[in-house]
Amino acid sequence: MSRPGPNFAVIVPTLNERPNIEELLRRLAAALSGIRWEVVFVDDDSPDGTADLVRALAQLDHRVRVIQRIGRRGLASASIEGMLASSAPYLAVMDADMQHDERLLPEMLAALESGDLDVVVGSRYMERGSLGSASANRQRISRFGTYLAGLVLSADLKDPLSGFFVIRREMLQEVVRRLSGIGFKILLDILASASRPPRLRELPYTFRPRHAGETKLDSVVAWEYLMMLLDKKAGRYIPVRFVLFVLVGATGVAVHMIVLWTLFRLIGVDFGVGQALATLTAMTTNFLLNNVFTYRDRRLRKGQLLRGWLSFVAACLVGAVANVGIATYLYAGTHAGWIWSALAGTIVGAVWNYAVTSVYTWGSSRGPVAASAARPTGRG
Ligand code: GDD
Ligand code: MN
Repeated sequence: MSRPGPNFAVIVPTLNERPNIEELLRRLAAALSGIRWEVVFVDDDSPDGTADLVRALAQLDHRVRVIQRIGRRGLASASIEGMLASSAPYLAVMDADMQHDERLLPEMLAALESGDLDVVVGSRYMERGSLGSASANRQRISRFGTYLAGLVLSADLKDPLSGFFVIRREMLQEVVRRLSGIGFKILLDILASASRPPRLRELPYTFRPRHAGETKLDSVVAWEYLMMLLDKKAGRYIPVRFVLFVLVGATGVAVHMIVLWTLFRLIGVDFGVGQALATLTAMTTNFLLNNVFTYRDRRLRKGQLLRGWLSFVAACLVGAVANVGIATYLYAGTHAGWIWSALAGTIVGAVWNYAVTSVYTWGSSRGPVAASAARPTGRG
């Protein structure tokens, strides 16, 4: 008694959306009658038990599915994994909170199916659509984000930051290995990763207020957004994470000097002891800052912090030995100037620290997407 698979998959990333799930399912079922659909919730281990609720509902309805990710974060990477977990030829991404109008889905799907489009975007910016009652401040931030998006995007889109869109499977598979998967701007990530101009259409809708719960997008999303843009612009040449790692390293130098000055000059501690304590302090602040900024999506939490810190310090100590060794060799052995010798040692040390901690402290040297979903098995 085999049944054909779904033609249309709605991917819903969730973080503490328990009170919205049943309402969303009711609405999807009503809006999508006559369509062979499924819904894939991708939950990042929400403390409110969203994944448990979805599993219970999935036992009552085979169109409902759930992916529960452990120790991971991120709307974009969740959306990508949800899309990859479905076999449907047409895919949608939407919020769990009823802000996106599910009644637009059939029209979006029909537009894709009728042929010459790769992506159909639910847009909040067109004449007939509107921002509903979204606050003025939010609108201003959103406009600025839209402006920045224009810098990485050749396509002319009114609402490139939309989190509501449908996409043809072939288009996803074509770009999936190039996606940053950082932060929450999955549509922009997809469009900016395409090797040819994607064929687009925008359909307007009214952005509704959130049904229950509150937004998950805090101030850090702005930071992640910049990281994603940077990755799209320069990621081919130099990984954004490495840029961040180096910037954090620069703050470490400042921390080092302040601590050393305080201990050595102010308190009168022995220079060697001061230098050692300053080094340890700088390593610790570097570790914490990298944990919050550079590896936010793989952030180590309470129980994992000590082990992470130890591996970070161990890696940096080896890096320091390599740094000093190379600088000394260049300076004494090849008569390179002292500045060039020091610089070369520092670069080697930084690359070493970055490479080793990305694997041993934060889990994987690849992006959040590549690490878990897009990476083909059996290739190093
Ligand atoms: N799995 C997972 N992991 N889901 C997440 C995460 C995460 O780290 N962060 C947020 N989500 C889920 C939320 O539970 C929700 O279903 C959806 O992603 C969007 O998050 P909201 O918290 O509702 O975002 P918003 O409504 O403030 O932002 C909206 O506007 C943006 C454009 O300005 C959304 O529509 C975004 O998709 C859109 O890009
Ligand atoms: Mn929302």
